[in-house]
Amino acid sequence: MIGVVQKTAVTGIKPTGTPHLGNYLGMIKPALELASDYQSFYFIADYHALTTIRDSVTLRQYTYEAAATWLALGLDPERVVLYRQSDLTEVFELAWILSCSTAKGLLNRAHAYKAAVDVNTAEGNPIDEGVNAGLYNYPVLMAADILLFGTQVVPVGQDQKQHIEIARDIASTFNHTYGDVMVLPDALIREHVKLIPGTDGRKMSKSYGNTIQVFAPPDQLRKSIMRIVTDSKSPDDVKDPETCNLFAIYRHFASPADIEQVQQQYLAGGLAYGALKQTLFERLNEIFAPARERYNALMQDTDQLDDILGDGAHQARSLARPMLDAIRARVGV
Ligand code: TRP
Repeated sequence: MIGVVQKTAVTGIKPTGTPHLGNYLGMIKPALELASDYQSFYFIADYHALTTIRDSVTLRQYTYEAAATWLALGLDPERVVLYRQSDLTEVFELAWILSCSTAKGLLNRAHAYKAAVDVNTAEGNPIDEGVNAGLYNYPVLMAADILLFGTQVVPVGQDQKQHIEIARDIASTFNHTYGDVMVLPDALIREHVKLIPGTDGRKMSKSYGNTIQVFAPPDQLRKSIMRIVTDSKSPDDVKDPETCNLFAIYRHFASPADIEQVQQQYLAGGLAYGALKQTLFERLNEIFAPARERYNALMQDTDQLDDILGDGAHQARSLARPMLDAIRARVGV
């Protein structure tokens, strides 16, 4: 939009392995749709992942996978600045500065840290057992990611709401001490995203092992779909679309007319679950085949990924550097 100053949107993508349909519908698709309304900075949060991933090969692989995933699914690096968090060293300088304006008590109240303390308490362990300082400081690093760009909006899922509140708190404490430099960001919460069930009917999640991978090769995709749990009704039986897990997955990927038709067939009897599974397989394979090819090509060419991420870091730096310089001047270094 030439001549219109767009608001800045920043979001971090945690590199946690190949995406499933739940990630796609819940995060990737909405974030890509939103990107064109803002000056968008989307980055791979590899230093956040370092709080839990202990293996260098895995972390590097996941980082590439995350970049290739977003590019394959339609992120246009000409319009969205895509970079690797660890390449933008300004973030870590700011994280230290911010940590000196952050009350320790604020971090004591962060959900992830509190959850770890609760588990330890329940098990009779010392409260901080197994908690590294990176996990504890996670919200400060996240505040640095955001505040470094004078970000107005942060598109995230509901689970990240508290982190944005903490970033706002840190920003206002800083402003109170040093004068108004930090912009207070607003969370843009994806509330209306429908939850997609996994193959066992619970929320689709890597930790439940009930996922359907977006980029699985056809035979593997078919296998995961055939594993979707249904009741034992026979083809002729009347079926309930409202409680059927297979239908709940199907409806996210079908046209309104097709959804309507399957609904009628469920209510009238005569549609076998196996047949709908086959239809779902064909549909998903058709939707994702082109992206899967792009994904595989990008994963074969990590030099290209490095180039794109490097360019992104360069662009991000051109905004971040002046901001960091202004902040450094304020604090006196
Ligand atoms: N904590 C976020 C998550 O787990 C990832 C993240 C890191 C992030 N830095 C961010 C999100 C900055 C938004 C803005 O999903």
